[in-house]
Amino acid sequence: MGSNSWQTAITDIGPGKINVRGYDIVEMMEKLTFAQTVYLILRGELPNEKEARMMEAILVSSVDHGASPPSVLGTRNVISGGNSLNSAVAGGVLVIGDSHGGAIEQSARIMQELVSRGGAPSDLATGIVAEMKKAKTRLPGFGHRLHETDPRTIKLFEIADSLQFSGKHTELAKAIELELEKTTGRKLPINVDGAIAAVISDMGFDWRLGKGFFIISRVPGLIAHAYEEMTTQKRMRKLGNADFEYSGPLKRNI
Ligand SMILES: CC(C)(COP(=O)(O)OP(=O)(O)OC[C@H]1O[C@@H](n2cnc3c(N)ncnc32)[C@H](O)[C@@H]1OP(=O)(O)O)[C@@H](O)C(=O)NCCC(=O)NCCS
Repeated sequence: MGSNSWQTAITDIGPGKINVRGYDIVEMMEKLTFAQTVYLILRGELPNEKEARMMEAILVSSVDHGASPPSVLGTRNVISGGNSLNSAVAGGVLVIGDSHGGAIEQSARIMQELVSRGGAPSDLATGIVAEMKKAKTRLPGFGHRLHETDPRTIKLFEIADSLQFSGKHTELAKAIELELEKTTGRKLPINVDGAIAAVISDMGFDWRLGKGFFIISRVPGLIAHAYEEMTTQKRMRKLGNADFEYSGPLKRNI
């Protein structure tokens, strides 16, 4: 190893050799599902049967949510402007943020920090909702524009329960949902980001991987939208809400 070398523990390559986390890619192609492979590359170890099943459900859950989410509009706009599929997918991924898809990261961070403090979920929930109210911020992972109850959350929790994954983070997420309703008078359901955040936290994933789960799941959806846009729509069509009013200064002279 040269003096300028650096270390990576992900994949060992050489002529005719591709070993991901120590496993031969050729053997993986024969024996592993995509979800098992994703688990392996993120975690460094193969999942057991239950972890693989949970991973599968997480990756399926966010594959698409119609044409209205900001990332899909981003992807379609990039195509509409006359760009390539890779630019469009990259554009969609760039739109993923704390309010859309990326809420998994901050939601998992908050839950992991709270659980590590210890204490009853209801007390932790009361504390964080009070903090949020004082700071006039929103709790990531809660609320949905369309769903009063997010069907993906229900199914993810059901699967997590059946696989005995549900632990302190899921319990806390449910306690926060109740506390939010009590404090704000609104039903702010645990959305799919919050559910994924709770489940991956119960599975032992670091919150800093949070956005990754959404990106891995949503990229096939973004590719489908990019392809549909380029093959069925005219360029520069009106996408999104163009019903705006100008509110800047009236015409003036220099
Ligand atoms: C997803 C989201 C944008 C949907 O918002 P919406 O249904 O359009 O609701 P609005 O933005 O109109 O907010 C309505 C009220 O609910 C409150 N609210 C919405 N989500 C909230 C949250 N997560 N925590 C606390 N309050 C919330 C707003 O503050 C607002 O209160 P106000 O009327 O007193 O000002 C919103 O719930 C949110 O920002 N959630 C957090 C980010 C997140 O989890 N994103 C992932 C979505 S899958």
